[in-house]
Amino acid sequence: MQKNHNIPTPGPIPRHVVIIMDGNGRWARRKNLDRLIGHREGIKSARSVVRTAREIGIEYLTLYAFSAQNWKRPGEEVLALMDLLREYLSNEGEKLLAQNTRLNAIGNLSNLPQDIRELLGRVMKMTEECNSLTITLALSYGGREEIINAVNSIIAEGEKKPVSEKDFQEYLYTSGLPEPDLLIRTGGEMRLSNFLLWQLAYAEIYVTKTLWPNFRRRHLLKAIANYRNRERRFGLTGEQIREKGR
Ligand code: FPP
Repeated sequence: MQKNHNIPTPGPIPRHVVIIMDGNGRWARRKNLDRLIGHREGIKSARSVVRTAREIGIEYLTLYAFSAQNWKRPGEEVLALMDLLREYLSNEGEKLLAQNTRLNAIGNLSNLPQDIRELLGRVMKMTEECNSLTITLALSYGGREEIINAVNSIIAEGEKKPVSEKDFQEYLYTSGLPEPDLLIRTGGEMRLSNFLLWQLAYAEIYVTKTLWPNFRRRHLLKAIANYRNRERRFGLTGEQIREKGR
């Protein structure tokens, strides 16, 4: 059969996908429900996405679950989000273990309530040998804070030599994780919201109007298919990329 050269073969599955899960509040408002119900429904989306990610061979999935700025939300909502996190961590350990999925966390974790830190530590320990998928929850996470924290750690160590990008990366919360290939943002806003500012330098961006509580398996598959049809250039020309691929 003759090869059709007009149809490019899809590229690889992204190794590391990161998600800004936005739109829980709007989902609830449209249904005349409390915002909290939106967050609760959002947990179901997170479960569906984790399961699908593992199934299709994504190795790393990072979820922006609570930003450093989220502490400024009304006290009631912050307490409710912490309760949901407590519930998620209490129920999820066994499920993650059964799916050979490792749990990891990034952010200023010392700001979290003590019992949540303990729960997190317990599930992380329980799943530390799992090697099919690593999910990272960004909790009390801020990108600028992360960079400043890295700079201050370098200063505190008294480093006198110039620091390379590679050295610097080791001081970030994400040290040990590969660079994200794809950022998905739900809820339609075109912003980074202080998420992984250093790490997203070369990531592909996919924004969907779908609100997070509605984002399930088929939406993730659609985002991945979209990514696989893109040409990643890393600053090179299209011609150079094609040469490399030859
Ligand atoms: C944004 O919705 C979402 C958050 C503040 C994060 C909370 C995310 C979850 C509860 C889902 C998964 C959590 C875990 C622990 C896996 P929003 O309130 O900003 O929505 P809006 O922009 O429509 O108001």
